[in-house]
Amino acid sequence: MTYVPAENRYEKMQYRRCGKSGIKLPAVSLGLWHNFGHVDVTENYRKILHLAFDSGITHFDLANNYGPPPGSAEENFGRILKEDFRGYRDEMIISSKAGYTMWDGPYGDWGSKKYLVSSLDQSLQRMGIEYVDIFYHHRPDPETPLEETMSALDLIVRQGKALYAGISNYSAEEADKAIAILKRLGTPCLIHQPKYSMFERWAEGGLLDVLEKDGVGCIPFSPLAQGLLTNKYLHGIPADSRAAKPTGFLQESQVTEERISQIKKLNDIALQRGQTLAQMALAWLLKDNRVTSVLIGASRAEQLADSLKCLDNIVFSKEELAKIEEILK
Ligand SMILES: NC(=O)c1ccc[n+]([C@@H]2O[C@H](COP(=O)([O-])OP(=O)(O)OC[C@H]3O[C@@H](n4cnc5c(N)ncnc54)[C@H](OP(=O)(O)O)[C@@H]3O)[C@@H](O)[C@H]2O)c1
Repeated sequence: MTYVPAENRYEKMQYRRCGKSGIKLPAVSLGLWHNFGHVDVTENYRKILHLAFDSGITHFDLANNYGPPPGSAEENFGRILKEDFRGYRDEMIISSKAGYTMWDGPYGDWGSKKYLVSSLDQSLQRMGIEYVDIFYHHRPDPETPLEETMSALDLIVRQGKALYAGISNYSAEEADKAIAILKRLGTPCLIHQPKYSMFERWAEGGLLDVLEKDGVGCIPFSPLAQGLLTNKYLHGIPADSRAAKPTGFLQESQVTEERISQIKKLNDIALQRGQTLAQMALAWLLKDNRVTSVLIGASRAEQLADSLKCLDNIVFSKEELAKIEEILK
């Protein structure tokens, strides 16, 4: 059956300006790190993509290495883009990245111009598109001069292979320097993608201030701590969870008793707010207007439907915030 996007899709979503740029992103964006590889079931991820677009999610985040196997998430996304979303490319913000190990030898990793340019060419081929909207350097490279990596992003944008440049996993100090170089080159940094959730708060120690000062957007990844900040692990590790799967990045050892105790207490507050824990965890990030969008994952369409309802309430009372701080201490 041919997919026809929901007509009212733009009524349901909130869109937030990305830093001081011309781009607005949906408050909730979808990442394809897990659940979209060749190891996954096509009809399942097709359903997730349909629901996402029907709900006003315009931003889809990929990277060269997403799968497994690496590259397969881009291939699968490209196939569905062609089969189901023909005619809708201009309604989408598609991102990709390079920075982690992708191919053998000295040119398939880190931050050289050689790696970034050739990796993006491969990503475009896999997705069957002419350009990505955002291209990120995926992680800082301690050996390559920052000037070289940033000038590679600048080159890529000038070549029209990406419309905007982004950085990911850069510390506050590294980000400040990278943003300044990009500005000087004439390709402003659009966005930073840090790991940020109730359980991972390093971004609060300076990065968010740098991004605000420089007018750069922020899109936290793993905002649900890979599923820990949901009701999934309240009673142990379910067989269909990321922690239980051999291809999942979340390790069973990360689901500690201390974590479960925190999750239970947070879940109680969420229920008092009339939310699921996933909804509250996302709302907690979105209460800060320096956060442009939360970049979630989903292994089933039902999870995405659940997470999207975070937008119904992103306001917290002082008492709720204090109780949450006490639990996270
Ligand atoms: N820049 C980087 O270095 C970097 C690194 C990591 C991720 N990312 C980006 O961030 C995106 C999101 O990362 P993530 O997948 O770790 O995000 P996440 O939203 O923290 O975790 C998603 C996982 O949590 C579970 N889940 C989601 N919603 C749920 C719900 N409502 N109820 C119960 N369980 C739920 C599912 O896992 P189950 O399989 O257990 O069902 C789902 O796959 C990635 O796809 C990628 O685009 C970027």
